[in-house]
Amino acid sequence: MIIIFLIVSLISAIDATSIASRSQSYPLSQPAVHGPKTRMTIGNGVIAPDGFRRPATLVDGVFPGPLIAAQKGDRFDIEVVNKLKDDSMSELTSIHWHGISQNGTNYADGTSFVTQCPITPNHTFTYSFSAQNQTGTFWYHSHYSCDGLRGPLVIYDPHEPMAHMYDVDDASTVITLADWYHAFARNLRHQIVFANSMLINGHGRYAGGHKSKLAVIKVRPGKRYRLRLIQMSCDSNVLFSIDGHNLTVIEADGLLTEPLLVDQLQIFAGQRYSVILSADQPVDNYWVRSLPDTPNATYDGGMNSAILRYKGAPRADPTTVNTTSTNPLQETNLHALINPGAPGVPGYGNANVNLKLEVSLIDTTFYINNVTFTPPTVPVLLQILWGVDPTQLLPNGSVYILGPNQVVELTMVITGLGGPHPIHLHGHTFDVVQSAGSSTFNYVNPVRRDVVSAGSAGQQMVIRWVTDNSGPWFLHCHIDWHLDDGFAVVMAESPLDTSAHVSPVPQDWGRLCPLYDNHQGMPLTVAEGVLDLIEQ
Ligand code: C2O
Repeated sequence: MIIIFLIVSLISAIDATSIASRSQSYPLSQPAVHGPKTRMTIGNGVIAPDGFRRPATLVDGVFPGPLIAAQKGDRFDIEVVNKLKDDSMSELTSIHWHGISQNGTNYADGTSFVTQCPITPNHTFTYSFSAQNQTGTFWYHSHYSCDGLRGPLVIYDPHEPMAHMYDVDDASTVITLADWYHAFARNLRHQIVFANSMLINGHGRYAGGHKSKLAVIKVRPGKRYRLRLIQMSCDSNVLFSIDGHNLTVIEADGLLTEPLLVDQLQIFAGQRYSVILSADQPVDNYWVRSLPDTPNATYDGGMNSAILRYKGAPRADPTTVNTTSTNPLQETNLHALINPGAPGVPGYGNANVNLKLEVSLIDTTFYINNVTFTPPTVPVLLQILWGVDPTQLLPNGSVYILGPNQVVELTMVITGLGGPHPIHLHGHTFDVVQSAGSSTFNYVNPVRRDVVSAGSAGQQMVIRWVTDNSGPWFLHCHIDWHLDDGFAVVMAESPLDTSAHVSPVPQDWGRLCPLYDNHQGMPLTVAEGVLDLIEQ
């Protein structure tokens, strides 16, 4: 027994050093790009994106993970290989393709205990899905983890309606914004935590650290760039701006908007914007700023910053100064470009289903309509496929049953402290008929997106969508810590139709729960029935 233990620890020690030396090649200057049919290996490695070395959960050895680039209509077949072995972080994984509606493929949504059991170490699962007609800027990540594992996903449109507005749109114009922590996520749970740094394209600096490398965004004078901003923070919302330049917003969360000129954007965790940057200023270096809402955040020593460098400018830090924003993005000024208008009869309370969710906070636990979310042991989708009576779906009180083809109007009211809370619904985009902090409603041409701020105590937001996608869909705060504190519910859309809507469920999916139960040392009673069910 002891000998086996020694061998095992010896092996993991060898692995740790080989991983550490491989990380010497970090940082990469350009992200790797994968197509829609690919393999991604989730493993552990030591990285120092802000100069502080720590073990992390990485995709193919890097953070952020590689860009997945697809064309409209492509099918995705992404084989996810779990090579996690550092038990100071989660050794289980699953990947959610944030913003992809997964219509008919709920089992590929990648949400542990809602749509699947986690992938256990040394096992793989292939996420196969079509994004149908969706195009735009998306990303991928696991839930319940702030130790890494997040990356960009873009679906390009060969007939892009906005293409005339810009010249360059490639991997170099994908801009990831991510807060970063020096401690393991496990040690930060259920307390008030702040990130150590803000990374732009995987580079940043922390207070008291040395001057580690900053990201450089290179542009040629006279060209117009479609910057795809992806806010992949675990918590922080950011104020994004580029000194000396205005930005024209043309996309929010994968949906085109009427062009809107701004000089600063507040971007919440999970949200994306495409903005057009025109390189029409004197050849120089300019600060790119991404200020998190961390108390006392500054730009001192290049923190929360990257560099915009015109071709011909010296390789030097910018000397530009931050000016006060005079034209910040207001969400209510964003309008869906294609087929605008909220579904259903206009007017508050006039939907088929009018649902109110009240969010409260007691100590460090969140409650939605007085129920805190605790992940069930059997994924909600599996319960539904088993034919569990919809009213009995677990977790009790956290599953909301919606009928088919209904217009749902959801009001979220924040009563507790904390916030602003970015709320994400899986399986749908929605129309934001009332933005938090605004007293006006817009049913005519509101922004359509998949993450919206519900604001802070005393504020509310109202969204609408149509239940045309049978299956259980997670609705949660995109602050990972708050999700972990129970800030989530499941919208179970027409559960009686789900089995037909997602048929055929891949056999590999059916094996996830038996493998997981086995890994957890649980009796196989819970999940063994599902294999038969699927293989029938
Ligand atoms: Cu990016 Cu459950 O979401």
